[in-house]
Amino acid sequence: MLSEDLADPSGSARDFKDLVWCIMVEAGNPNLADYFPALKKIDPQGSRRRMTVYFTKIFELFDGLIEKRLRDRATVGSIRKNDVLDTLLDAREDKSQDVDIFLIKHFLLDLFVAGTDTTSSTIEWALSELLHNPEKLSRAQAELDRVIGKGKPIEESEIARMPYLQAIIKETFRMHPPVPLYLPRKSGLETKIGGFTVPKGAQVLVNVWAIGRDPSIWKDPDVFMPERFLGSEIDVKGQDFELAPFGAGRRICPGLPLAMRILHWMLGSLINSFNWELEGGVKPEDMSMEEKFGITLQRAQPLRVIPKPIKGMSQIKVKS
Ligand code: HEM
Repeated sequence: MLSEDLADPSGSARDFKDLVWCIMVEAGNPNLADYFPALKKIDPQGSRRRMTVYFTKIFELFDGLIEKRLRDRATVGSIRKNDVLDTLLDAREDKSQDVDIFLIKHFLLDLFVAGTDTTSSTIEWALSELLHNPEKLSRAQAELDRVIGKGKPIEESEIARMPYLQAIIKETFRMHPPVPLYLPRKSGLETKIGGFTVPKGAQVLVNVWAIGRDPSIWKDPDVFMPERFLGSEIDVKGQDFELAPFGAGRRICPGLPLAMRILHWMLGSLINSFNWELEGGVKPEDMSMEEKFGITLQRAQPLRVIPKPIKGMSQIKVKS
């Protein structure tokens, strides 16, 4: 995967993560120029200026990765990675598709900006909630032990046999939806919803976060209770509007199937292979669970934990 290149220890991973968060914050900031187009040129909040800097930096990062890959591919005897970048470069070389470097860079931008922060913050929230609620963590670990065996690597096919792990991911999405207001949308027609008229052309922001905390929909909405999803038909695929963290309809997140695989596999692996200790002897009940909002939602205080390998842990294998 190209993400391996972005995860090298030389610092590009940190730069990338910081840049993505800056873009998320900026995209989530209300911008006067969006409402008064005459202000666009003046850019009164400096939003466009800052975004230009972030995107330029991110493209420089991609340029470096692409150039390195092109050099590697030209070196006789080098081993191909066969990842998304190789596939796109193949299409460009054999001219089977109308693909050029400009398109590759923008495609990578879409995939990595939309797919990294959302996935990592879901894992961080899920682990935080489990450490905040140790009895839920024990229950999840007991399920993993029963189905997989303590410390053993998880196969994707086994996730279907772990309803509690699935319920944890759903409950995390309910309380901490990674894209709390979706992306801004514009109504194509005048529409009536719940007695309100939404005029044609109005900007529509759906408050997914508030839906997840609505006491008329959820009992004890501020309590982390994966059990509420055991035996429930509610799913996150855009059919059940009370829990739709990926959106719904034609513009539903195209990364949903990938994200759902990664999330269960990663969270399951983390809690099946390690016990976790809060840094500095913080007690579970004293953990900060404060949120901060960009266009995505993150922990206000990054989770700081110490992994303790579980006895008998096998090497986690990453399948390409
Ligand atoms: C926890 C993981 C994720 C969540 C909760 C999530 C959620 C969302 C949401 C809510 C939207 C906007 C839908 C709307 O406005 O109607 C969206 C759009 C999008 N997502 Fe995701 N996403 C996740 C992971 C990913 C991944 C892994 C990828 C790709 C590798 C991805 C790619 C995209 C793209 C390209 C769009 C824009 C689609 C469009 O504008 O039509 N997402 N996502």
